[in-house]
Amino acid sequence: MNEQIVILDFGSQYTQVIARRIRECNVYSTILHFNTPAATIAALKPSGIILSGGPSSVYAKHAPLPDKGIFELGVPVLGICYGVQIFAHFLGGKVEKGLKREYGKGTLTVKNPSCALFAKLPKELQVWNSHGDKLTKIPKGFKAVAATENSEFAAIENRARKFFGLQFHPEVVHTPRGREVYANFVHGVCECGRNWTMRNYVEQAVEEIRAQVGTERVILGLSGGVDSSVAAALLHKAIGDQLTCIFVNNGVLRAREAEVVQEVFGRNFKIKLQYEESSKLFLSRLKGVTDPERKRKIIGRTFIEVFQAATKRAGKAKFLAQGTLYPDVIESVPIGGNPAALIKSHHNVGGLPKNMKFALVEPLKCLFKDEVRQLGLELGLPKEIVWRQPFPGPGLAVRILGEVTPSRCEILRNADAIVVEEMKLSGLYYKIWQSFAVLLPVRSVGVMGDERTYEYTIAIRAVESQDGMTADWVKLPYDILEKLASRIINEVKGVNRCVFDITSKPPGTIEWE
Ligand code: XMP
Repeated sequence: MNEQIVILDFGSQYTQVIARRIRECNVYSTILHFNTPAATIAALKPSGIILSGGPSSVYAKHAPLPDKGIFELGVPVLGICYGVQIFAHFLGGKVEKGLKREYGKGTLTVKNPSCALFAKLPKELQVWNSHGDKLTKIPKGFKAVAATENSEFAAIENRARKFFGLQFHPEVVHTPRGREVYANFVHGVCECGRNWTMRNYVEQAVEEIRAQVGTERVILGLSGGVDSSVAAALLHKAIGDQLTCIFVNNGVLRAREAEVVQEVFGRNFKIKLQYEESSKLFLSRLKGVTDPERKRKIIGRTFIEVFQAATKRAGKAKFLAQGTLYPDVIESVPIGGNPAALIKSHHNVGGLPKNMKFALVEPLKCLFKDEVRQLGLELGLPKEIVWRQPFPGPGLAVRILGEVTPSRCEILRNADAIVVEEMKLSGLYYKIWQSFAVLLPVRSVGVMGDERTYEYTIAIRAVESQDGMTADWVKLPYDILEKLASRIINEVKGVNRCVFDITSKPPGTIEWE
């Protein structure tokens, strides 16, 4: 079993970021609900425990509290922000409402540089604070090791028991050297090695998949997106021809998408690929439909129907593989909310029907997105797939405003191919979240040569984002915009005008429908 750090989640918006920081130190981390029994935690043999921050106050009526047995396991504990209050609550300290809420950048002065958390770090550090309550009396056995302008107990330690408390957030980018604080904790204090790498994970995952699947057959719906592609490559490495991938052409794919998938997976990887050409069926059902939610529902339902029929044709399989990621399986603590969950339920229409009785194989379910990309590279997938921008399940249908017809699909596909090509040439494609074309249902007048034209408009969208929840429009250089507009208008039949979308999210959404 991997060495691991257990993170108890008290509802902080940064819990997953802490988990990622630990893994960036090449140490495995697991997020558990704050009230997980100490015996369950002990069974995992963690090398250390981190108490996440959280929006509560320990004095609140329903304050989330851990099993106090975690302090008796003999493993190091690091409390972040609210985690410090938990030490105080259980080990005899005092927390009071701060006169001033400490929020934003601050300077931490390390008073005792022999504290292991600050090894090889300067005496002054820029840190990010976000707390209302503050420690006014430190718990028994602890000493103050660092202070900020507002708090003389910004970092505390009980050296003998290896307990540490930090009032600031080392996991956020606004604490520029925070990664080193975590590295000091996991390597220096918890004495973890650097075993968690995607190279090691391949071996481990291959063994686990083989143990789970045995000689049975597995089916995977391959979309060409990062997650299903990496899952396919990993499963293929583990079980070869026992895997069949099903790729559905829904008629609203981008240019060359079906070809690329067939080339990469069929010809290069020699994966058994069942290609379902269903464009006509999808497009016939979308005929006359203009409402965005109806488009999504029709595509979702038709996909399930096609996929279900395809699995029957693929022959008897016991398992269905899915590219589920770690953030989808973490049981999130509702305090503080998890807005990501809302977006998922909004976008994912349906799910597979109950009568499809498969056991699930989810070989990515303990990985974060950045780890999945690394794993993809490790498995030899091309950069074009591993670093693909997100693409919505309902495809071009939600980028064609108004009715989706074969000729409109063709127009948008051609315009989009130019956007992708130019963005890749400029190097920006891999730096930003998404860049694409949208086909507007309005036509306007233009002149081309001596002729008057009356054609459609293409909107260019380019956004930067961390997770799709919020986004800023990208200030594309004028020469790129000029090139895009001129190529789209000259090369795409049916378009005579280009506009650039300068809406951020909120209030706009990234897609237009
Ligand atoms: P919005 O448009 O809601 O998009 O700002 C946020 C992110 O989600 C993607 N998106 C979808 N993904 N099915 C999906 O699988 C959908 O129906 C869908 N709609 C939007 C969008 O591309 C962006 O990355």
